[in-house]
Amino acid sequence: MGDTFTTRCRFVVLISGRGSNMQAIVNAIEQQGLPADVVAVIANKPDATGLQWAQDRGLTIHGLDHRNYASRQDFDNMLAELIDSYHPDYILLAGYMRVLTPEFVSHFPNSIVNIHPSLLPAFPGLKTHQQALNAGVQWHGCTVHFVTPVLDHGPIIAQGVVAVQADDNPDTLAARVLRVEHRMYADVTAWLAHGRVSLDTDQRVHVSGAANRSFLLTPQGVETTESIL
Ligand code: GRF
Repeated sequence: MGDTFTTRCRFVVLISGRGSNMQAIVNAIEQQGLPADVVAVIANKPDATGLQWAQDRGLTIHGLDHRNYASRQDFDNMLAELIDSYHPDYILLAGYMRVLTPEFVSHFPNSIVNIHPSLLPAFPGLKTHQQALNAGVQWHGCTVHFVTPVLDHGPIIAQGVVAVQADDNPDTLAARVLRVEHRMYADVTAWLAHGRVSLDTDQRVHVSGAANRSFLLTPQGVETTESIL
């Protein structure tokens, strides 16, 4: 990790549903001409709508029904074996809504990246936008982080914020956070593809050449904090 890849950086993307974050990753690679490939898209639900989009883009897809496995461990063992066959540099979770076993996480040390729709460590788990409204926070957002065995926890790569509006409901808030998610995951994809991301001995993330790693939804769109300070 943190090395410049001798060949192109290899990503495996895991999804569970519509896959809009996956699309942001794939589009970033294509539009920015990144030295990277999504070598497989895997869903734990064979009917995940994002799989069709990936297939239409010519990507290799796998739809695996986790309900066909006797235990979470059995499913994750098979998933790890499938992922290993693609020799990825990173596994990008993009709306992958299944808890990973500690064995799975430790099989891919410092290589699994997740996007979570809250400003971690606030609001791990589900229904994050409702949680934010219930708590009355005035800033909400999203986090891209390395995955550890603890759910929605781990070294933070980037965060993005949106201001909460007085008349927000979970759907309106989710829609604005999603705009930040897409821009942020695209930028993180570029950092990873260029081998700029590393972890220090305190498990803190460094991105070479990035003064800060924060994003903000403004009336003009999603900006990096660097560009507006
Ligand atoms: C995103 O908000 C993601 O952060 C969360 O679930 C949503 C998935 O959206 N984990 P999509 O499948 O990427 O469109």
